[in-house]
Amino acid sequence: MLEVDAINSFYGQSQVLFDMSLTVNDGEVVTLMGRNGMGKTTTIRSIMGLTPARRGTIRFKNKEITAQSPYRIARLGIGLVPEGRLISPNLSVEENLIATANSGPAGTGRWDIAAVWNMFPKLRERKNSMGNQISGGEQQMLAIARALMTNPELLLLDEATEGLAPLIRQEIWYCLRNLKEEGQSILVIDKNMQALTDIADRHYIIEKGSVVWEGTSRMLLKDDAVKHQYLGI
Ligand SMILES: Nc1ncnc2c1ncn2[C@@H]1O[C@H](COP(=O)(O)OP(=O)(O)OP(=O)(O)O)[C@@H](O)[C@H]1O
Ligand SMILES: [Mg+2]
Repeated sequence: MLEVDAINSFYGQSQVLFDMSLTVNDGEVVTLMGRNGMGKTTTIRSIMGLTPARRGTIRFKNKEITAQSPYRIARLGIGLVPEGRLISPNLSVEENLIATANSGPAGTGRWDIAAVWNMFPKLRERKNSMGNQISGGEQQMLAIARALMTNPELLLLDEATEGLAPLIRQEIWYCLRNLKEEGQSILVIDKNMQALTDIADRHYIIEKGSVVWEGTSRMLLKDDAVKHQYLGI
């Protein structure tokens, strides 16, 4: 589905990604972990074309997307839940959802407003509230729902549960588990390793802009040295 192959990305003169590589196969949930400032968000931004890679290639469904515009990349079927959520404050919950609605690259996506209300009954209750009147947890649900409304074949989540209360976090993990069961491919960033190893198939750890470890949940859970060295656990 997604192949990031040795990309190098910069902010001005400052290089942040150094031959960064990862893959997400069809139906997989893959995580990208690593300490603050290591290049997780930049990897996501490069995939979306927001901080285009200067060297290396990114392929999505076997098509090169490396230097394409964010708009085009989104239309090809990649949905982003950005760090910080970026909900439109002056649109209602429902308007935030309708603003991105799209039947997906094949035109046959299953996500529409009714499907979203079904998955997130809390959002339905709040559908007329403005984006800035809802709680952090509701905002994160809305950010996920908004990405689903584009019927993405690959969902990118940057900081899935950051800043949320434990109970709300559980709801987000439950939602991701449901999406996985439906076959949704997901690349997720989060700091909660325990929850991620429960849900995800494979993991990448990034350190100073390149992958230093990759493996399955089982491998990660038993590797105390890796957890300690790269995740500070
Ligand atoms: N717009 C920017 N301009 C210049 N440097 C930036 C910019 N955004 C990020 N950086 C730098 O790039 C590096 C990687 O940042 P990035 O946001 O990708 O890290 P991250 O792994 O997502 O961190 P966090 O866990 O804090 O979200 C950091 O050193 C950061 O200071
Ligand atoms: Mg980040």
